[in-house]
Amino acid sequence: MSKGALVTGASRGIGRAIAVDLARAGYDVLLIGRDLAALEETAQLVRAARPDARGLPEVCDVTDPLAMEAAVARALQEFGSIAVAVANAGQAENGLLLRMKPEHVDQMLNVNLKSAFTLLTAVAKPMCKARAGSIVLISSVVGVGGNAGQAAYAAAKAGLLGLAKSAAKELGSRNVRVNAVAPGLIETAMTESMPKESREHYVRTIPLGRTGTPEDISGVVAFLCSDAARYVTGQTVVVDGGFLM
Ligand SMILES: NC(=O)c1ccc[n+]([C@@H]2O[C@H](COP(=O)([O-])OP(=O)(O)OC[C@H]3O[C@@H](n4cnc5c(N)ncnc54)[C@H](OP(=O)(O)O)[C@@H]3O)[C@@H](O)[C@H]2O)c1
Repeated sequence: MSKGALVTGASRGIGRAIAVDLARAGYDVLLIGRDLAALEETAQLVRAARPDARGLPEVCDVTDPLAMEAAVARALQEFGSIAVAVANAGQAENGLLLRMKPEHVDQMLNVNLKSAFTLLTAVAKPMCKARAGSIVLISSVVGVGGNAGQAAYAAAKAGLLGLAKSAAKELGSRNVRVNAVAPGLIETAMTESMPKESREHYVRTIPLGRTGTPEDISGVVAFLCSDAARYVTGQTVVVDGGFLM
């Protein structure tokens, strides 16, 4: 039986790097996202990382609970068990509080927070039965520290921290660990439109003096999923070059 993993938002950026690192660590990975061609590219990278690794594209919108449950069922069928699940899919849209529309809040909560609930509840059952599992929720430094102009996104990312801690308390007796990772500014499609001046200002406040790469995050996620982290649960690991400290 292979070691099964599931990563949402695996079509690019941080999720793609996580899928590749998990493959390198011996996992077969269900690659969840909406863009089939991009998921297939990730599958190729998975095979390049470890030739006998299976990277299976699964076209699925994470805001659709039935589609997500079907994705988890497929992972169980293909891999025999799910050892790891990473809720990484996310969307960051800015919006000032005084102009905020309810649809904006719903969208941010649905994509960034409720999708993680759906994934977590769907994988918790088989993991509890197997008495083993590691779940990682990708939050953000703005979920820890807040950010002007990102109240809805930040609220969703902060919600993930409460979810991770509560789930860690509830599932710990079954040896299922739940942790959160809070990235700082990482170079991906999500941040490429950030104005040059804001980026330079931000970088000046980072003790390590640079923005992060997807691989800066994926290595930490792979650690949290590994046996080396077997006594780590309910934690938020901030990976931001020292920005928040
Ligand atoms: N980049 C940063 O600076 C940064 C900082 C802190 C936290 N984060 C968090 O890290 C995670 C990954 O971000 P990233 O920087 O890698 O962003 P990205 O390059 O924009 O990738 C986002 C991923 O999420 C997927 N996704 C979005 N909405 C989806 C939906 N409804 N259904 C299925 N998949 C969906 C996208 O897939 P498709 O569009 O192909 O479906 C894509 O694979 C996010 O949760 C983000 O909030 C990023």
